[in-house]
Amino acid sequence: MVLKTTVRSVGKVVDNAVNKSIDPAIEQAAALIRGGEVVAFPTETVYGLGGDATNDAAIKRIFAAKGRPADNPLIVHVASVEEAADYTRDIPLLARELMDAFWPGPLTIILPHNGTLSPLVTAGLDTVGLRMPAHPVARQLIAATGRPLAAPSSNRSGRPSPTEAAHVLDDLNGRIPMILDGGSAGVGLESTVVEVIGQTVMVLRPGGVTLEELRQVSSDVVVDPALSIAKEAPRSPGMKYTHYAPEVPLFLVEGELDALKQAIEEAKLDGARTGALVVDEWLGLSGADQEVTLGKRVDLHAIGRELYRALREFKARDVDILFTCTFPDDHLGGAIMNRLTKASEGIQKSDA
Ligand code: TXA
Ligand code: MG
Repeated sequence: MVLKTTVRSVGKVVDNAVNKSIDPAIEQAAALIRGGEVVAFPTETVYGLGGDATNDAAIKRIFAAKGRPADNPLIVHVASVEEAADYTRDIPLLARELMDAFWPGPLTIILPHNGTLSPLVTAGLDTVGLRMPAHPVARQLIAATGRPLAAPSSNRSGRPSPTEAAHVLDDLNGRIPMILDGGSAGVGLESTVVEVIGQTVMVLRPGGVTLEELRQVSSDVVVDPALSIAKEAPRSPGMKYTHYAPEVPLFLVEGELDALKQAIEEAKLDGARTGALVVDEWLGLSGADQEVTLGKRVDLHAIGRELYRALREFKARDVDILFTCTFPDDHLGGAIMNRLTKASEGIQKSDA
């Protein structure tokens, strides 16, 4: 069915408990969701596609609009730590410490669910991923809806996550009734997904909360080995799918400017029209026919914020092949490298 997709801007949202006035666009979105519809909305990570997590029909709409495989469970967005307890069998102390430290914010915690939510949300697993977002529009939408919001990123499955309303419209125009436009998402990369196993915090997807930050809460933080060893099955079903792919093949070159230049030169000798994702310091120096910069090389926050936008931009440009370089994988670089590796055909080693 083709829907007319309305984009509604949200005015400046006052995020405090005293001021109860809710933006009319958010009210309209909440009414749609209460009626079993789905609405795209901004969060501090990326735009989500939200539906009532207790309503099977709404969850089916989310999977259909995205073209998402039914075995890939959705994250559920809640208003508070207390609400998380409504959908779970047990919240271990370590999970509660993580909530206290990082909620509201870009951390999703996998917990055993209690059967209250639609089984379609959890793809039949006995766990559910919960997150309390920090974005004021997301928080007001959850409050106005009065329901837990199942919300994956609001891209067509396999594409880079949207960091602006225009990206959502590109992917889902005619497939959903409404997009709430709250401007650019802040982090630009999705939440970190963790599972608490005994005293261990297992990272299933690196994201907005870094390993270094998690280690301030627990001395035992490990990354799911499947993220680096291809033959193991990841604990997070979503990590097995191709993701974030730009419309032209992306090659991730190990090293810095010299390695990038060499890879681009070789592609040009083969007659390819080349594009490069560069950093400010390298603008005009890569030799690529087209360049888009992500920001200063040391500014991992800017790079995180710009990455998906830049990958989308190359859709419209006339290039056959796209190149970028590896980044140091500490702090936010861990999530950036994870996404670049998944978006690309793998890391290319070069002699340069
Ligand atoms: O920042 C974010 O997390 C954004 C915003 C909208 O909140 N949402 C998002 O959702 O990125 P999505 O569906 O694109 O990614 C959710 C990831 C997937 O890799 C999924 O497999 C994993 O979380 N996940 C969800 N529930 C899980 C569970 N019970 N066990 C393991 N992994 C789970
Ligand atoms: Mg996603």
